[in-house]
Amino acid sequence: MGHNESNQQHPVTIRCRVDGPLVVEGSVRVTDHRGCEFSINTEKKPVALCRCGLSGSRPFCDGSHKASGFMASEEATNGIAPSKQISASSSKKENLDHPGHHSVNKIVQRSLEVAAMTSGFHPITRLIEKALPEIESIEIGMLHVFLQHTSAGLLITENADPDVLVDLSCAMNALAPEGDHWIHSCEGPDDMPAHVKSVLEGPSVSVPVGNGKLLLGTWQGIFLAEHRRHASSRRLILSLSGSTRASLAPFTRQEAST
Ligand code: FES
Repeated sequence: MGHNESNQQHPVTIRCRVDGPLVVEGSVRVTDHRGCEFSINTEKKPVALCRCGLSGSRPFCDGSHKASGFMASEEATNGIAPSKQISASSSKKENLDHPGHHSVNKIVQRSLEVAAMTSGFHPITRLIEKALPEIESIEIGMLHVFLQHTSAGLLITENADPDVLVDLSCAMNALAPEGDHWIHSCEGPDDMPAHVKSVLEGPSVSVPVGNGKLLLGTWQGIFLAEHRRHASSRRLILSLSGSTRASLAPFTRQEAST
């Protein structure tokens, strides 16, 4: 039986493995961009192609996706032609025209417990970066940080001169001073002012991610504003989403060091 005849009877199948590689079943050749062939034997076992962009032996999967938290679970929609799915969104069309480029292919969500702090403004940018090493693999994306409390806040402000933080504290205390004018007083004199300051600051910040870094300005930092004098630890929910560019070199730690 000729090679082409065999392919017609057993067409090559590409299976999207949940949170993992593309598994190619059937007799195929894998070449680089010049057409040079990688040495593999597809007769013996299927080929697993990396789609997280983190493999140290691309284009093949080496299992790195497991530790990275890579998530992908595409499902085929029966009865809808691919062209109709494409026309529903211009961004989806762009993705399919350029497979592997700028598709959102990494989503990570993690909680971060921040130990109890004194009242004041505390820089937490480094804590967040340490909790989310996946930031380094994102080419274009977004980080969302959400604080699950009502007597503290999140904000982005100057990270250079500490006097800024002192002045911010004074401003907040002027806007919401302690006193017997508050109705809600059962949790201590600093509780209702803390709620007011928390509402003014808000519970979340979003920061764009680009080229493996948070795109904060030179003088910007993410701060947790603690407004209770005797607070407990605070919990943050970190949500990171974005695209990695599997076909280009500079976005993985492995290749950045070569
Ligand atoms: S999909 Fe397995 S290492 Fe990328």
